[in-house]
Amino acid sequence: MKTILLTLASSLTVALTSAAGLPRERDASKPSRVRAAGFTDAVTRHVIPMRKHDIPPAPDHHIRRRAAGSSPTNLRNVHDVYYIIDLIVGNQTIPVSVDTGSSDTWLVQEPYECVSFWFDYPGGKPNCGLGSGFKGNLSGGTIPDLPPFVRSYVDGTFVAGYYGREDVTIGGVTAHNQRIAIVNYTYWRGDGQTSGLLGLGYPYLTSLDGADQNQPPYDPVFTTMWKAGDIEPVFSIALSRSEDRGVSGMPQGLKKESYLALGGLPPVEFEEGSWARTPIHGMDAVPQWGFETDEKGMYIIKPDAFVVGPGGSGVGGLARNTTQLPVLIDAGSTLSVLPVNLVNQLYAAFDPPAEYLSSTGLFYARCNATVPTFGVEIGESTFYIAPEDLLRQTVRDPTGEWCRVGVTDADSPPHVLGVTFLTNVVAVFDVEHSEMRFAARKKY
Ligand SMILES: *[C@@H]1O[C@H](CO)[C@@H](O)[C@H](O)[C@H]1NC(C)=O
Ligand SMILES: *[C@@H]1O[C@H](CO)[C@@H](O)[C@H](O)[C@H]1NC(C)=O
Ligand SMILES: *[C@@H]1O[C@H](CO)[C@@H](O)[C@H](O)[C@H]1NC(C)=O
Ligand SMILES: *[C@@H]1O[C@H](CO)[C@@H](O)[C@H](O)[C@H]1NC(C)=O
Ligand SMILES: *[C@@H]1O[C@H](CO)[C@@H](O)[C@H](O)[C@H]1NC(C)=O
Repeated sequence: MKTILLTLASSLTVALTSAAGLPRERDASKPSRVRAAGFTDAVTRHVIPMRKHDIPPAPDHHIRRRAAGSSPTNLRNVHDVYYIIDLIVGNQTIPVSVDTGSSDTWLVQEPYECVSFWFDYPGGKPNCGLGSGFKGNLSGGTIPDLPPFVRSYVDGTFVAGYYGREDVTIGGVTAHNQRIAIVNYTYWRGDGQTSGLLGLGYPYLTSLDGADQNQPPYDPVFTTMWKAGDIEPVFSIALSRSEDRGVSGMPQGLKKESYLALGGLPPVEFEEGSWARTPIHGMDAVPQWGFETDEKGMYIIKPDAFVVGPGGSGVGGLARNTTQLPVLIDAGSTLSVLPVNLVNQLYAAFDPPAEYLSSTGLFYARCNATVPTFGVEIGESTFYIAPEDLLRQTVRDPTGEWCRVGVTDADSPPHVLGVTFLTNVVAVFDVEHSEMRFAARKKY
């Protein structure tokens, strides 16, 4: 999960814990539902196929029992799916993973120092799983008089280095003289195929740097592109759950492909009648973070409801929870992460029920279990998560009989709709209208 770690806010989270345990008055006024009509998304020519790369879960060397009351999610071992695109940086092609939960674009540069915790590689050399990255000098040089680039992510990884400028091209669109970060010191768990990260979040997140996390923000790659008028201020993502083993120049028309589309829609089939729209909220939408600004940083939405019930239940058999929960739409997070109460209902609705496997820190169910119905209501549409995403047949425990559940639980934010949600939809990130739009993918 590559959501940026909000260090400043997390100390506030601690201070707020006692209050957070109390039942909270909820704002009863639901945002009015809007029909997804009146916008003109069109398939863009700036479509970039993404390569999906699955990595087998690493054996966990630091097994700990789930302590009562502790944050239950083990985020250290959950990132097993990467969506990769090629960035052209200067004239070098550099594969990076794609993230909507952070805003910097960074690349490693040799020589860099890879560090690790002792338990990750007992007696061995740390392996950050990064390629060789950018070579030589940036055409725009390094940017003087800035504090070093340092980012920590929610899964415990971090990168550090410095800022410079270079042209960055994606799908035929170039962000000229773009500020990027060059990383030479990192704790990372890469997939062995990428050398950096493309952050598609808002500029605001880039200001959370330095000791006080209040540096002047800068425009990330996507912002530079739309401000220059090269694309509409929108991008969209369609992730496929099937692995594509092709390298580059993949044949057209494969429904299994994953895409990043700049300025419009990707060329995938979706259910025309299922379009739904919902506002993107500011940083203050997550009270536990303690931000006072309504400035937008991440793609935070509030789904109208979550529905859950046993597999095969009709709409009448589904429990509907209409709590207005702020969630991040995060393509850099494999699993979806939702509150404990809600996820416990989901686990219980597996037949037989899902169980906590302490050796992994996550919930698994029998690979042949009956999978529940689980959906996210946005506007007038309910986006159901496919059984393949709820019970992930490709990620098994060492016995091979238990499969990983695609939703995990957390007491505290960030709550996330990650890859296991996004593989069911086309997601449109519209920064001009500050809204997200979704349509259900046709079955693929
Ligand atoms: C890439 O750019 C650098 C600096 O502008 C130049 O020295 C080098 O020859 C170029 N390489 C290629 C393959 O074009
Ligand atoms: C990069 O810049 C440094 C300092 O300006 C110079 O010494 C070095 O030769 C340059 N390297 C390349 C590959 O151009
Ligand atoms: C990383 O680069 C910065 C800026 O050039 C330098 O000060 C620092 O020593 C480098 N760190 C490592 C580990 O190479
Ligand atoms: C609904 O979900 C919220 C979290 O979003 C949870 O705190 C609450 O307990 C749930 N309500 C019911 C009735 O399950
Ligand atoms: C499911 O698999 C388990 C072994 O993992 C087996 O014992 C059980 O009979 C299977 N159940 C069904 C319904 O096939």
